[in-house]
Amino acid sequence: MKNRPRQFPMTSKETVVELISAEKIQQRVGKLGKLISSDFASTERLIVICVLKGAFMFTADLVRSIEVPCHIEFIQASSYGNGIQSSGKVCITGTIDVTGHDILVVEDIIDTGLTISRISHEFLNCNPASLKICTLLEKPAARKHPVTIDYLGFTVPNRFIVGYGIDYAGKYRQLPFLGILE
Ligand code: PRP
Repeated sequence: MKNRPRQFPMTSKETVVELISAEKIQQRVGKLGKLISSDFASTERLIVICVLKGAFMFTADLVRSIEVPCHIEFIQASSYGNGIQSSGKVCITGTIDVTGHDILVVEDIIDTGLTISRISHEFLNCNPASLKICTLLEKPAARKHPVTIDYLGFTVPNRFIVGYGIDYAGKYRQLPFLGILE
C-alpha cells in the first residue's frame, strides 16, 4: 500500500503537507558535501557563505559534510517579509572580505532568482577567485532572473515551501522536513 503524505496541522488555519522527508534531506545534503569536498580539494581559501535566515539549517548540516578546510561566514538577505510573494526589493546586510577567495554561497531556495542574482552581483564586484552557488531547492517555474546553480539539492513545484529553515511569516523554520503550506 502506498504511503500517504504526512500532514502537520501547525496552526488552526494552516497545514503543512510533507514533501521531502528529513531522511531524504540528510542523504542529499551528505552527497552535496562530498561533491563540494571533491571540487574544492585543491584550495585552502574556501569561504562558505550562509544566506540567513533561510539557509541556516541547510548550511549547518552541509558544512558538517564538507571535508576540506573552509571559513564559514554569514550575510542576511530578505525580500519576502511576511508575504508569499517577493517584494521585488532585496535588503542585504553583512560584510565579508571575499577578494581572492573561492566562495560558495549557500541558499535554501532559489525562487524568482532575484536574491541570489543581487548577492552574486555584490560579491563579484569584490573580485573573488571564484564564486559558486549551492541551493537546497530551486523552483524553475517561478524563475524571473537567470541563475547558474552549481550544486542543487532538489527541484520543487511552484508551491509555497516551508520547513528545514524556510519560513512563512517567521513560522515553520524549525521543522526537520520540507513541506507544502496549505
Ligand atoms: C527567501 C530565501 C531566499 C529567497 C529566494 O528569503 O531564503 O533567500 O527568498 O527567493 P527569490 O529567488 O525569489 O529571491 P526571504 O526573503 O524569505 O528571507 P529569509 O531567508 O530571512 O526568510
